[in-house]
Amino acid sequence: MATPPALSILASLSGAGDAYAKNQPGSRESLIELSRQLIAKLELPSELAVDRNIFGLLREAGADGVFPDVLAEKVGMQASLLKRLMRHLVAMHVLDLANGKLRVNPLSNGLAMQDYQRSIMFCYDVSRPSLNSFPSFFKETKYHEPALSKIDGPFNKAFSSSLPFFDWLNANPPNMQHFASFMACYRDGKPNWFDSGFYPVQERLIAGFDPSIGEALVVDVGGGRGHDMVMFAARYQDHPGDIILQDQDVVIGEIENKDAQPFTAIAHDFYKPQPLMGARAYSLHSILHDWDDDHAARILENLKPALKSGYSRVLLNEIVVSEEEPALAATAMDMMILGHLNVCERTEAHWRTIIEGVGLRVINIYRYPGSAESLIEAELAL
Ligand SMILES: C[S@@+](CC[C@H](N)C(=O)[O-])C[C@H]1O[C@@H](n2cnc3c(N)ncnc32)[C@H](O)[C@@H]1O
Repeated sequence: MATPPALSILASLSGAGDAYAKNQPGSRESLIELSRQLIAKLELPSELAVDRNIFGLLREAGADGVFPDVLAEKVGMQASLLKRLMRHLVAMHVLDLANGKLRVNPLSNGLAMQDYQRSIMFCYDVSRPSLNSFPSFFKETKYHEPALSKIDGPFNKAFSSSLPFFDWLNANPPNMQHFASFMACYRDGKPNWFDSGFYPVQERLIAGFDPSIGEALVVDVGGGRGHDMVMFAARYQDHPGDIILQDQDVVIGEIENKDAQPFTAIAHDFYKPQPLMGARAYSLHSILHDWDDDHAARILENLKPALKSGYSRVLLNEIVVSEEEPALAATAMDMMILGHLNVCERTEAHWRTIIEGVGLRVINIYRYPGSAESLIEAELAL
């Protein structure tokens, strides 16, 4: 059973919809099945997780596919068990089945990539136990949100650890690598704040850039190994000024071929005063959501002295949870960070309280269709 193209599924959906309106037997089930097919067609691999060796071997088999018995022998599994498991994946449209052979499709091909494999391990080894501990953890808190402590949340209960989440990942290799892969997959294929139609980079940053105020165009604070800045530089190849990447010492140390990168990488702890003065923009992508309000405010306070009034912009690329129509991607991340870090995704009102509380002002909030993350543009209030 090979999944048909999205447009043909849509046409079938329309027919099934008519049948459903006429109350025809089986039409409801048919609508559900077609909807599943459509989701599988449109979904990014980051949203599914399955066994790894099997996808790698299937990818090697390519368009020819492979008989389940042959695959079972290769992976050292009982053939009947493998067939049952694969049948379930076919039903979920993660794999295709044609003429008795299992065949990869774009979803399973994506899942065979190393970053996806590691993400699956992260979700399985770390996220799942953290989320599974919700019932027992919240029984202890008498069904209240956890106290804002980095060492007393669902994650700590699951792992019987008093280490904060990131410290635990570092102390328990290869979980930090798996987390870094998870972040890369989480970003994969999603819109970037600097994409055309999201935040007007040319108008808001490049126009008016003044090197006499500061040499940096963008400083990516806590930018990891630089995936955002690589794409930013590729998109704005003629950009003026410098692109600077900052992160923890250990993360900066992992960047390969530093000299070949389109940015300058500098180790900087964002709990210390920002050393680069007067940049046109300081970008913080998914940084403040990792921290409670007090810590988030401290990060912004450390940025403030570097900001040139009326010129420097603070760009917070964060989820802004809608009170009225919360998106699944936003609420899923909220559950994830509740489980791991004891913190929450914030509504617009919550963001404004933090930003205005440290003497900044929100200039605008840029949203992009289909993106759970928005771009909050702020500057010094005075
Ligand atoms: C959720 S990740 C976001 C990474 C990247 N901005 C992105 O959106 O993919 C948080 C980042 O904050 C960095 N970080 C954590 N504590 C830090 C600190 N005290 N100073 C600087 N960076 C820190 C981590 O190393 C990690 O790269």
